[in-house]
Amino acid sequence: MTQKEIQHYLRSGTLQLSALPPLSLYVHLPWCLKKCPYCDFNSHEVSGAMPGGLPEQRYLDALVADLEAALPLIWGRTVHSVFIGGGTPSLFSPQAIDRLLSDVRARLPLEADCEITLEANPGTFEKDRFKAFRSAGVTRLSVGVQSFDDRHLKALGRVHDRAQAIAAVEEAAQAFDTFNLDIMYALPGQTMENLEHDMRQALALQPPHISIYQLTIEPNTWFAKFPPVLPEEDLAYAMLDRITEMTHSAGLQRYEVSAYAKPGHRCFHNLNYWQFGDYLGIGAGAHSKLSFPHRVIRQVRYREPRLYMDSALAGDAVTQENEVSRADLPFEFMLNALRLRDGFKLQDFSEKTGLPVTAIQRALEEAERKGLIERDLVHVRPTDRGFDFLNDLQELFLAP
Ligand SMILES: C[S@@+](CC[C@H](N)C(=O)[O-])C[C@H]1O[C@@H](n2cnc3c(N)ncnc32)[C@H](O)[C@@H]1O
Ligand code: SF4
Repeated sequence: MTQKEIQHYLRSGTLQLSALPPLSLYVHLPWCLKKCPYCDFNSHEVSGAMPGGLPEQRYLDALVADLEAALPLIWGRTVHSVFIGGGTPSLFSPQAIDRLLSDVRARLPLEADCEITLEANPGTFEKDRFKAFRSAGVTRLSVGVQSFDDRHLKALGRVHDRAQAIAAVEEAAQAFDTFNLDIMYALPGQTMENLEHDMRQALALQPPHISIYQLTIEPNTWFAKFPPVLPEEDLAYAMLDRITEMTHSAGLQRYEVSAYAKPGHRCFHNLNYWQFGDYLGIGAGAHSKLSFPHRVIRQVRYREPRLYMDSALAGDAVTQENEVSRADLPFEFMLNALRLRDGFKLQDFSEKTGLPVTAIQRALEEAERKGLIERDLVHVRPTDRGFDFLNDLQELFLAP
């Protein structure tokens, strides 16, 4: 990137960001053993498309080239968290993750206690593999369990069974001080009893953090073409209530719509997204949001892994870039901040969007009148009703 291009980001504008928010790094590793029928993430099956297997080294070279090209945009800033997501990052060897983290550290200052999460699939689990990720510098493992019921795992097209899921979580608990389980509910044919059983099993493993998502049918997935029969909406609501009760009794607090944590185990990386912090995303299809004194920009990298590698190695992995308009910033901020149980501080709104609080005054008054938020001079917090009707609440902040 030339001096002239950097000046382009720094030129004056109508926003006034008094300080830049914390910066996180997201690294996307886009391969999986098998594509799950419900998944619309940028993930590609290793077999078939990859006659030579996983192109680990070439992909790592591409990530380095991608990072180097992006460095001028984050000059002088420290990284507060790293998240290696996918896809199935645990398909990469511990040696590859070690190289990746060394490459990152050689180019970017990481905070001393930087949280470094890696997503792992129990189907890629073998003894001591997770310990090796720990030795490579990963501090937090996120295990994609989804369910502990073999029938549901099968319906979800997962490559692992219940026994592998339990073994993987037990090893995660041994190797890491903190870890997460991803669980899905409202699965095809799932009853309340099945759900309770799943949750009891999950909680028995004493996870410090659980992310729980309602299964959604996403466009362009196998399930969109061949939809399974899912539990009725009322049952899905009741399941969520039960999940919140059971996790609460186990000492996990619901701090975000889908995230539950024991004290001291909230995920910094995700909190930074929800608090409208900055993130540089490298890797196939990764998204970035970066702030400058007078603007906020978003970038997207090439999505298809081969095209991404070729482009990154040729010096430009970015396929789309745009500046977030002044009119869109309030909604973008709220889309994230209102997902948090504790809401946000008004001062954070101004600091992170560069807009005065008056820009949302009317929407805040309406949200309060409708009983969707409570606030004082410093904080804004969704009420229970606001949390239940989050879309309605967020929509109040859409550009007129
Ligand atoms: C990118 S995946 C990463 C985890 C890893 N690839 C795995 O599946 O084991 C993140 C999580 O999103 C959730 N997820 C993916 N597709 C979903 C869908 N259609 N509805 C609800 N949750 C979904 C799953 O819980 C999944 O673990
Ligand atoms: S393993 Fe995870 S990322 Fe891969 S296809 Fe399944 S849900 Fe998607």
